[in-house]
Amino acid sequence: MSAARQKECDVAIRITGLTNSFGDDVVHEDLSLDVRHGEILGVVGGSGTGKSVLMRSIIGLQTPDSGRIEVLGESMLDEAEEDVSIRSRWGVLFQGGALFSTLTVAENVMVPLAEFYPKIDSKLRREIAMYKIALSGLPEEAADKYPSELSGGMKKRAGLARALSLDPDLLFLDEPTAGLDPIGAARFDELTLELQRTLGLTVFLITHDLDTLHEICDRVAVLADRKVIAIGTIPELLATDHPWIQEYFNGPRGRAAAVSHADEERRLTRYPAPSKSRGFKR
Ligand SMILES: Nc1ncnc2c1ncn2[C@@H]1O[C@H](COP(=O)(O)OP(=O)(O)OP(=O)(O)O)[C@@H](O)[C@H]1O
Ligand SMILES: [Mg+2]
Repeated sequence: MSAARQKECDVAIRITGLTNSFGDDVVHEDLSLDVRHGEILGVVGGSGTGKSVLMRSIIGLQTPDSGRIEVLGESMLDEAEEDVSIRSRWGVLFQGGALFSTLTVAENVMVPLAEFYPKIDSKLRREIAMYKIALSGLPEEAADKYPSELSGGMKKRAGLARALSLDPDLLFLDEPTAGLDPIGAARFDELTLELQRTLGLTVFLITHDLDTLHEICDRVAVLADRKVIAIGTIPELLATDHPWIQEYFNGPRGRAAAVSHADEERRLTRYPAPSKSRGFKR
């Protein structure tokens, strides 16, 4: 395979020249971004910079004014090429969860299964849902609870179970650790990393959580000025002199996250953990 072709195959999502606007409010202008196969890409940017709109554009919930979006080699904006099966190759955890409040956790997880595989009988559908619930670290009893009966952390896991229901290749997570206490957030990060490794997922992870960026992301894309202004590892981003990037990663919180990550790396080098754990990525 030629080097150029190999590079093409390495790209799971390719966005070129994307423009999105709401009336006079231009959110993205000529935005381009590549997400590589098998990576966890962190997506950061100030509130309102268009991270969620970007995710919604990729999964077809937002029709852009112009641009090109290819997911796993398929064009998302070309109606002639539109293929429903592509939607079964990703799972989404929306900002805020977006669970159906009148359905139990198991029923929520079964919704995509019923949509894409209507012929699967209800017993098998339930079995698959129970497996995804366990995979997401929820206790079995949570399956028959309604979202209103769950804690914030459990709701996120239920949303994750639903996102995993179709065995996706791509996982979209919009602010998965927002609102979780630091221990809950760290556990969710560990789970994301574990799933990405064991299931070979490509993860598009929108977050404000600096610990998440340091601990589990392979690269980070920064949204500002209606574009992706930089993409790379955190050290690569720090080498740029964009003021927002410097303030974000070098501000008091950014430095604290970097120090704690460096401490964790040192501790793991001295006392390697027997199994995978937070901070054990590289
Ligand atoms: N359906 C919509 N109609 C009109 N404007 C919208 C719509 N959805 C998003 N916007 C606007 O697009 C901009 C980007 O919104 P988006 O939700 O993508 O921000 P974000 O980067 O995800 O922010 P946050 O970090 O707060 O979640 C905002 O100005 C928002 O008001
Ligand atoms: Mg958002």
